[in-house]
Amino acid sequence: MIKLTVNGHDHDVDAEPDTPLLYVLRDNLKLNGAKFGCGLGQCGACTVIVDGAAAFSCLTPIALLPGRQVTTIEGLGSVGTPGPMQQAFIAEQAAQCGYCIAGMVMRAQALLARTPNPTEQQIRDEMSPNLCRCGTHMRILAAVRRAAASRSTTRADAR
Ligand code: FES
Ligand code: FES
Repeated sequence: MIKLTVNGHDHDVDAEPDTPLLYVLRDNLKLNGAKFGCGLGQCGACTVIVDGAAAFSCLTPIALLPGRQVTTIEGLGSVGTPGPMQQAFIAEQAAQCGYCIAGMVMRAQALLARTPNPTEQQIRDEMSPNLCRCGTHMRILAAVRRAAASRSTTRADAR
């Protein structure tokens, strides 16, 4: 058994220590937001957040995760109550097939948590490991910009 903390909930997972986190999320925990694209760290469809940093869950063995915080797209909001980053993607209609989008949202979420006011170059550099085969990159970038702008507006209102 390996103890994982996912979206704030503890789970005892019956799986081999070298099992990729992606398989455990989807098969054991039934969290299907993270997608299998390449399984090789080359597409970003499986991106989640581990201790605040974007991570390819297809390359992350669960043995590395006890005591660490894993966040998946399900931890950011739901269909009925999407979180701010999800709302930004919806507002920009930043998806066609949607296969890459959970990974994109998670990578963008990690970026803004670390760098609340990113430059255009920082956004492009950070998002570059994640690929979109539908070609919605420009809308995805607009969604990240929108989320950043809305966070700074919220912060200014709170002052
Ligand atoms: Fe993990 Fe492609 S499925 S990077
Ligand atoms: Fe289809 Fe990105 S929206 S892969």
